[in-house]
Amino acid sequence: MNNLKFVSYMSNQAQVLTNEGIEQLLFQIREKNKRLAITGILLLIQGKFVQYIEGEATEIDKVYEKIKLDSRHNDLVLLDSGELNTRQFKDWSMAYKKIGDDQIKEILGHAELNLDDLFLYPSQQKTHPVLKVLYNFTNSLST
Ligand SMILES: Cc1cc2nc3c(=O)[nH]c(=O)nc-3n(C[C@H](O)[C@H](O)[C@H](O)COP(=O)(O)O)c2cc1C
Repeated sequence: MNNLKFVSYMSNQAQVLTNEGIEQLLFQIREKNKRLAITGILLLIQGKFVQYIEGEATEIDKVYEKIKLDSRHNDLVLLDSGELNTRQFKDWSMAYKKIGDDQIKEILGHAELNLDDLFLYPSQQKTHPVLKVLYNFTNSLST
């Protein structure tokens, strides 16, 4: 059955990853995602991970439980989740982008993106500008 779901969250990197560390993480993620037909995008913004994953609902639930327990990050906050009719990132087992302040300014019109607020005031989750930054890439990467 085609029961699609998505989850997006933000977390603090446990330690600053080198480029090599990121590549290793992406290699592991992409191998497993290909196997489970999970697609999505991982952003690195101000030392924080912002990730969107989509796929078959039971697989997404299982992987998200694993991700929550991963010691490579902490303080994970759920930003958004829900059902999907069609995939946004069907060709991407995990796209990756490191986002600088310039790009944030391009997308939001201003450079201020107070991500730490989200850890303090979780009620902002579903409307926080970081979701605008995240979903901005939906249009540019999906075909
Ligand atoms: C920021 C971050 C993003 C991750 N994203 C994924 C992902 O999209 N898919 C996945 O299978 N594992 C992802 N992982 C890895 C999982 O936490 C976990 O290590 C992996 O699923 C373990 O799989 P295994 O127990 O089956 O070997 C991510 C880890 C981190 C730190």
